[in-house]
Amino acid sequence: MNILSYEKSFLALGAVLLVCCLLALGYASFAMGIHLPGEEGLIDPETARETPPFDAPGLRQTGDGTYEAVILASAWKFEPNEIRVPTGSEVTLTATTVDVIHGLHVTGTRVNMMLIPGQIARVTYTFRQPGEHLILCHEYCGINHHTMFGKVIVE
Ligand code: CUA
Repeated sequence: MNILSYEKSFLALGAVLLVCCLLALGYASFAMGIHLPGEEGLIDPETARETPPFDAPGLRQTGDGTYEAVILASAWKFEPNEIRVPTGSEVTLTATTVDVIHGLHVTGTRVNMMLIPGQIARVTYTFRQPGEHLILCHEYCGINHHTMFGKVIVE
């Protein structure tokens, strides 16, 4: 093989990969509905504490076996810092921060969000096994970052 045909195959490979990436992007945004947060996902961090649903952080039942946990993050705590749900509950975690960037990771689950001032983060997860999970802040948010945690108790 001469050098020119190597070059051509690399170009072809590049073109194929590009098409694959575009197809994957199209599938993610149109078929799976994954997209950036829109207007409804915005909140003013200055007044978030007074804005529903963050004026009443906590857990509420939204249906048969479904719950919404509204969580307010600030340096250096989660409000509420303890959530108790029955085993098998489908919990939608809705969270925001009133000051700096915080993280919200529920250990042992795929719940892992970045809380950005001005944005509402939301994820739904079903807790199938009884047990305890820590809620950890995983974005460095200041001197007491390491003390910022909470708990999900599945009973
Ligand atoms: Cu909040 Cu680190």
